[in-house]
Amino acid sequence: MVITYELQAECDGARAGLLRTPHGTFKTPMFMPVGTQATVKTLTPEELYDMGAQVILSNTYHLFLRPGEDLVKEAGGLHRFMNWKQAILTDSGGFQVFSLGQMRKIKEEGVTFRSHLDGSKKFLSPEVSMDIQMALNSDIAMAFDECIPYPSDYEYTLLSTERTSRWARRCLDHHHTDTQGLFGIVQGGMYKDLRKKSCEDLVDMDFDGYGIGGLSVGESKDIMYDVLDNTTQYLPENKARYLMGVGTPDCLVEGVARGVDMFDCVFPTRVARNGMAMTHTGRLTVKNATYARDFRPIEEGCQCYTCRNYTRAYIRHLFKAEELLAYRLVSIHNLYFLLSFMRDMRQSILNGTFREFRQDFWKRYQDA
Ligand code: GUN
Ligand code: ZN
Repeated sequence: MVITYELQAECDGARAGLLRTPHGTFKTPMFMPVGTQATVKTLTPEELYDMGAQVILSNTYHLFLRPGEDLVKEAGGLHRFMNWKQAILTDSGGFQVFSLGQMRKIKEEGVTFRSHLDGSKKFLSPEVSMDIQMALNSDIAMAFDECIPYPSDYEYTLLSTERTSRWARRCLDHHHTDTQGLFGIVQGGMYKDLRKKSCEDLVDMDFDGYGIGGLSVGESKDIMYDVLDNTTQYLPENKARYLMGVGTPDCLVEGVARGVDMFDCVFPTRVARNGMAMTHTGRLTVKNATYARDFRPIEEGCQCYTCRNYTRAYIRHLFKAEELLAYRLVSIHNLYFLLSFMRDMRQSILNGTFREFRQDFWKRYQDA
């Protein structure tokens, strides 16, 4: 097996473990910074590594359209191409394609769509997605699935979830490499029986791990937590669970509390470029006028490069002047914040104090 998960400790539903990949072992629970275009925006791989990133996510859809998987393969694979030496997980394209709205057409065989870059006609299917991901040679490939919109009625959700299971089978049948693992993706919308059925279908196929898709698509957090409760319980203990597209601190804590091991989200890097910093007490809009003469770091006590060297006033000035360093400095802080947040959470699981960690978090944290 290329990918193996080892459970090290459990505490109030939360799990601490180790995920072994061809490019090193990473510690879970873990947050994966997003490098859609084979780069985590504004950061070098060395900077990412130094702040504790052990695995990053990249996208089949984007690299397929540009520069094309053949070029990446010619470069020696995605690791060599982008100079990232630790683990890489690639998403299958089964999310980006469905975000295109009317620009796409779904059939049993696969999905036809128009490139958002030049309007040219393209096709993705379980087989094509596997071929692309094998060419990229990421450590973990994801099965090609349909992420259905919210809300979706029961009838469509059933049809789509059953098709996602058939697609998952086709992914497994087509995937042939001993340098990459393959995760299935659970769907089922907000319907508990369909989530259960989706888990059962995929667990029968025996994937290397399981993505949990179709969440954080517009439903309330209460619904998401409830659906999550009704998903992780049907997944095997000896495989990793990955909640896709989720990465705000509150959802990370509540996801971990429900047995999730891996997360990814563009949130920390996207909001950074809008001048929003993440802290233990919630969001800080460093662009705001209130910080014009504030000579403290973004977060007191933060050990990131940004907070050790720069003030809110300076970063605000950079944003006002539209200087590129602004985006870098807040991206560094936000990723450092999330990665160390996950490290602390993991340590609390190992120490048996996750319950206290979760309580402390909610005492301090204010949303919005
Ligand atoms: N990213 C966030 N949600 C999803 C999903 O449901 N499927 C896939 N493939 N990627 C996602
Ligand atoms: Zn910081």
